[in-house]
Amino acid sequence: MVVSRSAFKVAAFSSLVALCLSTHAARAQAGGSGGSSGAAAGGAGAGGAPVGGSAGAATGGMTASGGTATGGTGGTTPVNPANLISNGAFDSDVTDPWWTYANNTDENPADETIAVNNGQLCATMTTGGGKNVWDVILGVSGLSLLPNQYYHISFTASADADRAIKFKVGLGDKPYTDYFIEQIPISATPATFDYTYLNLRTDPMAQFQFQIGKTTGTVCIDNVVVEPVAAPTMPVYKTPFPSGHPFKDYKSLVKMGTAVDTPIFLSSPLHNAIVAGEFSMITPANSMKMNLIQPVQGTFDFTDTDALVAWAQANGLEFRGHPLVWHTQAPDWVTGATFSRDELIAIMYAHIDGVMSHYVGKFPYWDVVNEAIDQVDGGWGFRKTFWHETIGDDFINLAFARAHAADPAAKLYYNDYNIEQKGNAKADKVFEMIKGLKAAGVPIDGVGFQGHYYVEPNGSTSVGLPKMQAIIDNMARYNDIGIDVQITESDFRIGKPLDDAKTQVQNKFYADFLQACIDATNCSHFTVWGLSDVDSWVPSTFPEYDYAHLWDSKLMPKADALAVSAVFAKYNVDGTPIGGSVGTGGAPSGAGGATASGGSGASPATANPSSGSGDSSGCSFVSRAGGLTPLLLSGFVAIGALASRRRRKSARSGQR
Ligand code: XIL
Repeated sequence: MVVSRSAFKVAAFSSLVALCLSTHAARAQAGGSGGSSGAAAGGAGAGGAPVGGSAGAATGGMTASGGTATGGTGGTTPVNPANLISNGAFDSDVTDPWWTYANNTDENPADETIAVNNGQLCATMTTGGGKNVWDVILGVSGLSLLPNQYYHISFTASADADRAIKFKVGLGDKPYTDYFIEQIPISATPATFDYTYLNLRTDPMAQFQFQIGKTTGTVCIDNVVVEPVAAPTMPVYKTPFPSGHPFKDYKSLVKMGTAVDTPIFLSSPLHNAIVAGEFSMITPANSMKMNLIQPVQGTFDFTDTDALVAWAQANGLEFRGHPLVWHTQAPDWVTGATFSRDELIAIMYAHIDGVMSHYVGKFPYWDVVNEAIDQVDGGWGFRKTFWHETIGDDFINLAFARAHAADPAAKLYYNDYNIEQKGNAKADKVFEMIKGLKAAGVPIDGVGFQGHYYVEPNGSTSVGLPKMQAIIDNMARYNDIGIDVQITESDFRIGKPLDDAKTQVQNKFYADFLQACIDATNCSHFTVWGLSDVDSWVPSTFPEYDYAHLWDSKLMPKADALAVSAVFAKYNVDGTPIGGSVGTGGAPSGAGGATASGGSGASPATANPSSGSGDSSGCSFVSRAGGLTPLLLSGFVAIGALASRRRRKSARSGQR
C-alpha cells in the first residue's frame, strides 16, 4: 500500500450515486458527509477492514450513502465480511496469489512480468500486449461469491501512459462469464475506483481480474478490495421536466423505452431509478445476445436477463426480447464450426425454443431476426452471415415460424439499421422483403427501425441526419401492409468535439423522430439505445463520436432529453393535444434550440453549468439554462409499480 501518495479519486457509479443520495436529511442521519462511496466507504477506508462486524458497527461505518440507504438488509451482517483479496495492499514484496496470463501469438505477441514496486503491484508488457485487452491479465482466483449479495470493489490504478483497462469479477474457466465488468481509463496519475455491484451468481472459485492488454507498457494497482456490503436502495425519482410528467406518463401516445446494460444495472441505483421513473419498456443491451445466453451449446445462462426481467416486472416496465437470430455476438461454438443446413436449422430452432420458452408470455415483443440485409455484390441483399450462407434465404421465414410457435401471443419483429427512410436503397430492400414475408403468411408483426444517426466531427449532417418526411412516408407504407413500426435503438452520436450547433442538431433529431412516431398510426414505441453517455456503446464502437444519449455522463438530463419532453408536453397525458391541433413532424418550438448540456462537460463552451456540481449539497437539485425544473432525488424508498395509464393507441391491432 502506498500511503504517501495523494490519490486522485474518481467518482465511479457507486460514489456518484452516494453523492446524489446524500441529501440533507440523510446527511443528518449520517452525521456528516462521510466518505463518498456509499456503502463501500467503510470497508475501503479501512483498507479491507471487515464490514459490519456488528450491526451497530455496520451502520456507523457505512453511512456515507446516507444511513438508511444501507438499510436494505437492515443492518444484517454479511455472511463473509472480509476483503476477499488476501494480498491487495502489497506491503511486502510478495506478489502471490496474483497470477499473470499473456495470450502470446505470432501475430499478436504478448508478455507480462509482475513485481511489487514502491508498495504497488506492477505488471509490465515489453514485447507486446496482444490483440485485445483480455489478452493480458493480472488476476487472483478463489473468491467465494454469494448470489444476491452486493460487493464493493475498490482499487487504485495507474499506468506509464494513458490506456483503457478492464476489471472483472467472473468465471475463470470457459465460457469466462463476466459477473461484473467495467472498462476504465487510467493514466500516470494514480486514480482510485469504487464500485458497488449486485452479484447474482454463486461461485466459490470466482476470479478478480485486471485485463490490461493491447499495448506494451506498465500498469500498477494497489489497495485492491472486494468485499460484501449491504444493499443500497433505489432512490425516489421525480422527473426534472417542466411539464412535471415523466416520459412514461405519455404512454398513450408513444411508449418510451431504453436499452439497459448489465454492468450499470447491477451497480447504479440512480440509473435504475431514472429508467423506472421515465420509461415504459427496456431492452437488454447485451444479456440476450447468443454468446451470453447460450455460451455453451445446450447450456443457457439466463441469470442476468432474469434479474433484469424481475426488476422490469416489479417496476411495471415492458420487456423487449433482443435478439434471437443475429450473426454478431454469436458464440464460438456456432461461428467456429461447420454445420450442414439441417444441423444449423436445428441449432437455430433450439436457440429460439430455449430462450423463448424460458420467457414465454412475459415479453410482448421479440426481435426475431436482426440485421440480415446488407450491401452485397453491388446491390442490397441477404448479408453473408453464417446463418444465411448455411441455411439459405429461408432462414428468416423459418426463424419467424419457429418463434411464433414458441410464443403465439408475442409480437415478432425484424430489426435493422439504416432502414428508416423510404427511398433509401437498403430501406426499400427491407420493405420489399417484409412485404414478401407478410404476403407469404410468415408470422411477422412489425419492423424495428434501429435509428442510429449522427452528426460528423466536421459538423456535416449530409449523411448522418435522416430526412423526416422519408421516415414518415416509410412508416405509412408499412402501415398500408399491416406492419407495426417500433423505433428500437435510437441514438444520435456527435462527432467530437462537442459544440452548440451539433447539440442543437441532436435535439431537433430526437424531437422530430419522436414526433414522427407519435403522428404515425402504427408506431407505438420509441426506444433509445442506452440511457446516458456514461455507459454508452458509442465511444468504443465509433471512437470519433460520443454524447449520443439523453442523460449525460453524470446521469444528469441533457438538452436532448428536454427536447423530447417538450414534444410530449404539447399533449395531455391522455394523448389529446393541448390547446388544439399539433403540427406533424415538426420540432417543438424551442426544442431545437435548447441549450446544450455539455455531455460530459468536456467543452467549456457548452458545458452545463450544473453538470457535475449541482448545488453544494451534491446533485439533489439541478437548475440549468435550458429551463429544467429542479431534479429532486431525496429519500431512500424503493419505487413502486407504475400506475396503468390510458392508452390512446391501445385499441390498434397488434399493439399492447
Ligand atoms: C451493441 C451493444 O450496445 C454493445 O454493448 C455491444 O458491444 C455491441 O452491441 N445493433 C443492435 C444492438 O442490434 O444489439 C447493438 O448493441 C447495437 C447495434
